[in-house]
Amino acid sequence: MNGKTIIETPRLVLREYTPEDFDALFEIMSDAETMRHYPAPFDEERTRGWIDWNIQNYREYGFGLWAIILKETGKFIGNCGITIQNIDGEMLPEIGYHINKKYWHKGFASEAAKSVRDWAFANTKYERIYSYTKYTNVASYSTACAIGMKKLKEYPNEKDGISYVYAITRGEWKKIKNK
Ligand SMILES: CC(C)(COP(=O)(O)OP(=O)(O)OC[C@H]1O[C@@H](n2cnc3c(N)ncnc32)[C@H](O)[C@@H]1OP(=O)(O)O)[C@@H](O)C(=O)NCCC(=O)NCCS
Repeated sequence: MNGKTIIETPRLVLREYTPEDFDALFEIMSDAETMRHYPAPFDEERTRGWIDWNIQNYREYGFGLWAIILKETGKFIGNCGITIQNIDGEMLPEIGYHINKKYWHKGFASEAAKSVRDWAFANTKYERIYSYTKYTNVASYSTACAIGMKKLKEYPNEKDGISYVYAITRGEWKKIKNK
């Protein structure tokens, strides 16, 4: 069973997760290199919980992290979408992304995140969309920059030591969205 398609880009389809995505997601989330900016790689239970959390988010908010499918092969290569995150004490809409390391450095995270940014401004009333990450996660904040986000601030916390916060406003998006 395939989840509902949400977004199509030139190379990718973003669709809702289903429990059948477990194996492909676990390959990503259990990998030590991929998860080196997290406290630890995910175990099976945490990975199943991640899928359930997103399916619940679709119901509660109308969005979540979506599975990224490579059109050319039909393979699940990662996820990207919006979740509500506690960023320095405020609950804010955040674009997140994870790509299977076999597919890094091909512009897939930027392509997916750009389409999610456009979806968010077209389908929600949020005036600002965020991305936040551990200060060491250059790939993550470079992806935020690639979709037009700018650094807003950094703050200390237990999870990341220091988190960097990036964001783009609706007004900034209007100026760049068709470029
Ligand atoms: C972050 C991640 C999704 C990027 O995926 P990707 O498909 O390789 O990214 P892209 O090819 O679209 O590159 C996006 C930008 O990041 C830069 N980038 C990607 N990997 C990089 C790295 N390891 N170091 C420095 N910059 C990097 C690219 O050069 C590009 O910048 P540019 O537009 O200025 O050229 C991927 O590295 C990943 O899955 N990381 C592990 C999971 C993770 O930490 N997710 C973020 C949680 S906050």
